[in-house]
Amino acid sequence: MSQVDVIAIDGPVASGKGSVSSGVAKALDFHVLDSGALYRLTALACMNQCVDLSDAAAAEKVAQSLNPLFKDGKIYLEGKEVTDAIRTEEVGLNASKIAAYPGVRKALFELQRRSAVAPGLVADGRDMGSVVFPEARLKIFLTASAESRAKRRYNQLKEKGISSNIDDLVSDLKDRDRRDMERSVAPLKPAEGARILDSSGLTLQETIDLVLAWYRESKA
Ligand code: CDP
Ligand code: CDP
Repeated sequence: MSQVDVIAIDGPVASGKGSVSSGVAKALDFHVLDSGALYRLTALACMNQCVDLSDAAAAEKVAQSLNPLFKDGKIYLEGKEVTDAIRTEEVGLNASKIAAYPGVRKALFELQRRSAVAPGLVADGRDMGSVVFPEARLKIFLTASAESRAKRRYNQLKEKGISSNIDDLVSDLKDRDRRDMERSVAPLKPAEGARILDSSGLTLQETIDLVLAWYRESKA
């Protein structure tokens, strides 16, 4: 049982989990856990080591020896900066493949639990409220229509100078959502007691403000 307040934010691809989590954490001066980054790092490490992604035992071994470094907003794997390298759609799709293996999830569990330190934590992912932090003070299932999520991802990539195609993005995100929802271990679904937040018509700031209001409410 963690001793500090945890706000768990789960939801499908590009629903705004990362941006909302960092905005909420900034306002409360809390830490952030980007759990998806751990699955992406495991996928990238598998790719770097030419591990067959259909080999669950091999992927589990990679997850067990994962030793990433998060420093000043940058992410390092075996001494190499991989902040942008883990954000590609290919790594995302591969992350969703290895994330279906129970052994991989088990290997990353403790790493995630250790993030719950004072003054508090905003944890973003797929199973933060259901599996990793079931005791979280506030659980949110953040969602938005597939079209608005694809558009957001499109703009996000464009800002980085990466061109993409909306139809491909919709198809990729639906693929990944399906795999995340259909897996037998820790499937993506609202945790018990989670509040559903549909951000389709909301700006990022409006979404952050709503989460902060719900958090204050939970403390009243
Ligand atoms: O972490 P996740 O994949 O769920 O999403 P994200 O990377 O935080 O958000 C995807 C993009 O949507 C970012 O560029 C956000 O600024 C944007 N966004 C938005 O436009 N409106 C919202 N209500 C939430 C996020
Ligand atoms: O930001 P985006 O929504 O694209 O994905 P992410 O949060 O970076 O996660 C990448 C993949 O890791 C997801 O599609 C899931 O398959 C997996 N994941 C998971 O299984 N459990 C988590 N707590 C976080 C991510």
